[in-house]
Amino acid sequence: MDKIKIIGGNKLSGKIYISGAKNAALPLICASLLTKDTVTLTNMPELSDIKSMNALLLQLGTQIDEFDDFVDGHPSKTYSYRTPEATSLIAPYDYVRKMRASYYVLGPLLARYGHVEVSLPGGCAIGARPMDIHLSALEQMGAKIEIKNGYIIADCPNKLQGKRIPFNIASVGATCNIMMAATLAQGTTIIENAAKEPEISDLAELLIAMGAKISGHGTSTITIEGVESLHGAVHKVIPDRIEAGSYAAAAVITRGKIELINAQPQTLQNPLQILKDMGVKISETPNGILVDATHAHLVGQDIMTDYYPGFPTDLQAQFLALMLTADGAAMITETIWENRFMHVPELLRMGANIKVHGHASAIVRGVEKLSGAQVMATDLRASFALILAGLIAEGETIVNRVYHLDRGYEHLEEKLKAVGADIERIHEADDIAAE
Ligand code: EPZ
Repeated sequence: MDKIKIIGGNKLSGKIYISGAKNAALPLICASLLTKDTVTLTNMPELSDIKSMNALLLQLGTQIDEFDDFVDGHPSKTYSYRTPEATSLIAPYDYVRKMRASYYVLGPLLARYGHVEVSLPGGCAIGARPMDIHLSALEQMGAKIEIKNGYIIADCPNKLQGKRIPFNIASVGATCNIMMAATLAQGTTIIENAAKEPEISDLAELLIAMGAKISGHGTSTITIEGVESLHGAVHKVIPDRIEAGSYAAAAVITRGKIELINAQPQTLQNPLQILKDMGVKISETPNGILVDATHAHLVGQDIMTDYYPGFPTDLQAQFLALMLTADGAAMITETIWENRFMHVPELLRMGANIKVHGHASAIVRGVEKLSGAQVMATDLRASFALILAGLIAEGETIVNRVYHLDRGYEHLEEKLKAVGADIERIHEADDIAAE
């Protein structure tokens, strides 16, 4: 398995291009299942999660064309998806266990074909991850749902019926699934307490370009008026706000200066405010965001994760890492996932001072320095927190289980190397040869 080796101590400076957003791209790919026409997505990131989703769609009978492209000044992928007729309505366990976002095929296939079978994903490193909100909403829209042999089996031989559906939690996944399902339902669906994340608005924009009638996306009430059919469209994926926030953290932790090209400040208001409160200079540039920590005397700040526009849980681990060498104490509270401090024991091995209280909060007290170590992480964002610690630690840090990073950070080593990090990937074969 590949590893990443970092020698800490370099201040980072320069520009980093922010890629298309993984968490926007995944539901966008599945939206293509709603039509027999071609849906083309540009500014797609080259990530293993995208490859896994493409593999699932191929298995369902989608024809996929891939092109190398150049969008907004940096190389990216363009994919065209065409599903004239699905050849399977089953998302098998082997696909879903690799990537839980596979459940995004549920809404589109049920709406278009009246039947779908999706393996239940089960829990993962960060929490239990139930699907009750998705399933209850589809039942309210007339679907019959059965759980059998680990699979969700959903049937709706007649069309799904538009309904007023209040969500008890503003779930991102359920909002995407129900919004997609409702586009082809009979009548009007109103999702109350919908998620407001920018990725939801991006999905709504694609669906509207495909002929869907949607309003209110970006607010907590989304209205979808069902239509007979949808058609093809071309859509550019929004920049990845979590990738941008992660590289902002890399600039800050190394007391460096990085311009995040294509980053959208309006999607990062809460994390950028935390950085300003820490003493970092943040400015908007014509191309993105400039993060300048070269003269900052970092001061620890409390953070509490929340639904958008609150502080994103997907930046909690990276911003916790920022507090490791800041002045004073910082209390980090996680409210979305019940088990998202798995990076802490690894950071402790590098000399951090952190106390976790229960499942929900951690107190970080700034230390003078960290020291390099062999570490491993259990999820994507926790892995990036370890990279951040490695960037300032004395000596060598080896981050194991790099496959987590490959799921969500496009060309990570290249991007960090280009701004001055001493970082390299050790391929398994090199590793064996070295032993
Ligand atoms: C999305 O997950 C993201 N994944 C996650 O990013 C992100 O952490 C999360 O939203 C919150 O922002 C993708 O977009 C692919 P939720 P999702 O449904 O949709 C509870 C990353 O690092 N819930 O908004 O699965 C759930 O347990 C990943 O890129 C129910 O109780 O998250 C959680 O506590 C990790 N029942 C809360 O809602 C349900 O039916 C929010 O979950 C659904 C969710």
